[in-house]
Amino acid sequence: MSRSTTGADGELSAAARYQVDRETLDSLRLHDIPENSVDADILIGELGDIGKGTGPAALIALADLLRKDPRVALIGLTTSIHNLHAHRGFAKAGFRISRQYDPNGLGQCHLMILLLRSDEPTVLRDAPR
Ligand SMILES: CC(C)(COP(=O)(O)OP(=O)(O)OC[C@H]1O[C@@H](n2cnc3c(N)ncnc32)[C@H](O)[C@@H]1OP(=O)(O)O)[C@@H](O)C(=O)NCCC(=O)NCCS
Repeated sequence: MSRSTTGADGELSAAARYQVDRETLDSLRLHDIPENSVDADILIGELGDIGKGTGPAALIALADLLRKDPRVALIGLTTSIHNLHAHRGFAKAGFRISRQYDPNGLGQCHLMILLLRSDEPTVLRDAPR
């Protein structure tokens, strides 16, 4: 697992990425997600800076960076099904809801994905319920 950060504005935002191994994905029943996919986390540094497009810009910068790494086919973001602000921000960066799952026993989340390879299928199958 590796980690790096990027941001549309280094002072305002950060998107951390973690390359996920097969064992971890399978333990979450994400069998169809390719290994070495990146699990991204994002936060905006100051409350007054949210809602200004910084998050989507940082995610687009992260995607541009990861497209240079042929091992990475997909970026995933996990967010509560109730976090509508995040869904809207992530959708602006091209992410789409793939499925719902409960990754840590704390409630249902959306897995939102961005496929980085044009020859990859655009729709992933639903995970087992
Ligand atoms: C989710 C997040 C990274 C998105 O980045 P962002 O730069 O705010 O993204 P956007 O500017 O595109 O705004 C996304 C949505 O936030 C909402 N929003 C806008 N201003 C807002 C404000 N002042 N307060 C709360 N939400 C606001 C809007 O619904 C907006 O969508 P819209 O522009 O279509 O109306 C950022 O809002 C954030 O850090 N939120 C708090 C932490 C969080 O939820 N992190 C995600 C965990 S997975």
